[in-house]
Formats: sequence, C-alpha cells, structure tokens
Amino acid sequence: MVVSLYARSPFTLSRHYLRAYTTARSGHTVDALVYSQYGKPSEVLKWHSYPLPALTPDTVHVKFVASPINPADVNQVQGAYPLKPPFQQLAETDDTKYAVGGNEGVAQVIATGDNVKGLKVGDQVIMAQAGYGTWRTVLIMPLGDYVIQNGANSAVGQSVIQIAKAWGLKTINVVRDRPDIDSLRQELERLGATHVITDNALGSHETKTMIKGWGQPKLGLNCVGGKSATEMARHLSANGEYITYGAMAKAPLALPASLLIFKNLAFRGFWMSRWTDTHSVEERTTMINDLIALMESGDFVEPKCVKVDWNEQAVKSAVEQGIQGYGLGKQVIQF
Ligand SMILES: NC(=O)c1ccc[n+]([C@@H]2O[C@H](COP(=O)([O-])OP(=O)(O)OC[C@H]3O[C@@H](n4cnc5c(N)ncnc54)[C@H](OP(=O)(O)O)[C@@H]3O)[C@@H](O)[C@H]2O)c1
Repeated sequence: MVVSLYARSPFTLSRHYLRAYTTARSGHTVDALVYSQYGKPSEVLKWHSYPLPALTPDTVHVKFVASPINPADVNQVQGAYPLKPPFQQLAETDDTKYAVGGNEGVAQVIATGDNVKGLKVGDQVIMAQAGYGTWRTVLIMPLGDYVIQNGANSAVGQSVIQIAKAWGLKTINVVRDRPDIDSLRQELERLGATHVITDNALGSHETKTMIKGWGQPKLGLNCVGGKSATEMARHLSANGEYITYGAMAKAPLALPASLLIFKNLAFRGFWMSRWTDTHSVEERTTMINDLIALMESGDFVEPKCVKVDWNEQAVKSAVEQGIQGYGLGKQVIQF
C-alpha cells in the first residue's frame, strides 16, 4: 500500500467538500509549493495552483492536515539529496514539469475509487514512502503496489500479470519491441496488465518520470538478463527486491553499485525446482489449489498456446522455434 492507516480517530470533514467529490471531475483546485529546477529554495520554490485530477477507480484523494519541512526536503529542492523527486506535468493545460516539495505528512482520505479496498473517507493516512510531494493541499494517490517484470509476454509473465491482478497488485510489463507491438500490448492488457512498455524505452528519462508518477515498484522479476534487465533494476523503489528467474538474453546481469549502496536493493534468484525440493507436498498442493481456484473463478486463463502435432518433424521444428524468440505462444504437444 502506498499509504498506511494512521491510528488516531479521523477529523470531521466539511459536508460541502464531500459533496464536491461525488462528480467525475473533481472541480477542485490544488495549491502547492513547487519547483521546476533545483536551486536555492527561496529562488526556485513557487506557489502554484492547478486543477485536481478526477478520481479513478484505483486512486484515492487525500487532503493534507499537516506536512513537516524537514532538512531532507530542503536538500531535495537543492538537488543535493539522493532521492530525486519526480518532475511531472501537473495539469493538461500547462506542460511545465514540476516537483512538489515535501515527503512526509498526515492526510485525510476525502474520496476513494470504486476498486479501493481497506480505506474509507475520513481515514487518516501517512505516506508509506518518500516522493509524493506533501507540500500541497490535496493529492491523488495510486493504491496497490507495483511489480515490474520483463519477458512479460512469456508464459511465466502472463501468469504473473494475472496472479498480481488477483492479489490487488499492479504490473509494469516490459516486452521486446516488434512490428505488432500494439496487438501484444492489447493482449497483455486484456489479461490485466496495468502498463506495457518496450525494453528500448526502459532507459529513457520519460519512462523514468512516468514510472515515478505511477509509483515505483517494490518487486522486479527478471526473465531476461543483459542490458535491459539492468535498466529495469533502476526503476525499483529503495529497499526493493529483484528476483532473477530466467536468462533468455544469455547475457550477464550487470549491477551498478549505487543500486546496492544507495537504494539497498536485494538481488536474489528463484528456481522452481529448489522451491519444490524445499516445500512439503501439502504446501505444493496448497499452491496448486490456489491456482485452480483462480482458474475456476475466471481470474486466471492458461497462457497463449500453439498446438504441436505429435510427429518427429513437427516436434523438431517446434523445438528449434522455441529457442529463437518472437514465438506465437507456448508450444504444446497434443498427443
Ligand atoms: N527459475 C525457474 O524456476 C523458472 C521456471 C519457469 C521458467 N523459467 C524461465 O523463465 C523464462 C520464461 O519461461 P517461459 O516458459 O515462460 O517461456 P516462454 O513462454 O517460451 O517465453 C519466452 C520469453 O523469453 C523472451 N525471449 C526469448 N528470447 C529472448 C532474447 N534473446 N532476449 C530477450 N527475451 C527473449 C520471449 O520474448 P519474445 O516474444 O520477445 O521473443 C518470451 O517473453 C525462461 O528463461 C525459463 O527458463 C524459470
């Protein structure tokens, strides 16, 4: 969760404010202390008002009650703090990119999207991580942690998309670029992918800003290795976990020291065979039963498959195709 519940009893909200939030367009103006470049706070900080974006099914609107001005916040405005804020467009009508000052704060939920569970209007919340820009009156916050994965169109990747969705997690899905990228994007979105991006775009400044705006993922799943896997690791939030389970690019995973020193990322591996060896039959049965329950509820469909006939020639050419990439789906022999 991006926000966590604050233990004390909530303040009372004005009835006028609550009524205003029942419309699709909030119609409210946010006042914020922003900066569009690093520098001396008294010179770069400015008061800025912009329209509050409309509520979506997966977001909440929170109204700040109190936000501290910490030394770290000042260092951040100066550009001297290791955690850089996202510079984003705040309104459709103004293409200047701003960062909003402040990282901590106590806020009150004033509207919740239809898909939001566990939070209600009136709850008090605190920021679960830095970077949201708390020197403003109202903030729209995405709910649900993100997972980022590459090889997202693989059989494993398609499963991750669906399981994550069923567990209330959002996914950023990295695939290799190709001529029919739009149709692949649509296929993955139909499965429940939140965002689909290409490996070529992973290292761009725009992608970095975009992901910061969505909410940096806490978990990365690496099916591929090589350069794009290094780029993917850079998008994880501090203290995130990066799990390598495949090496399809057959290239080593190079890791900048900064990801370990400053972001404290944990890099680990996963191997199903080891998991099977280290878990009991009961635990394995529970896992399989969980998947069957998802299938029965229609939340999990089998990965895209291509039928392979049971004869020597067909199976040999399927094996050859299986290592070439850009396949049409999991090849399955039909006996
Ligand atoms: N650790 C474990 O326990 C475990 C368990 C299962 C699977 N795996 C591993 O997970 C990976 C995916 O398995 P799967 O059964 O889901 O495979 P799959 O359905 O056959 O998909 C293969 C994936 O690899 C990508 N790919 C192929 N060649 C590539 C290359 N040169 N560079 C980058 N990407 C490439 C494909 O993307 P394109 O469409 O762009 O080619 C596709 O996304 C494999 O490496 C497999 O060994 C590991």
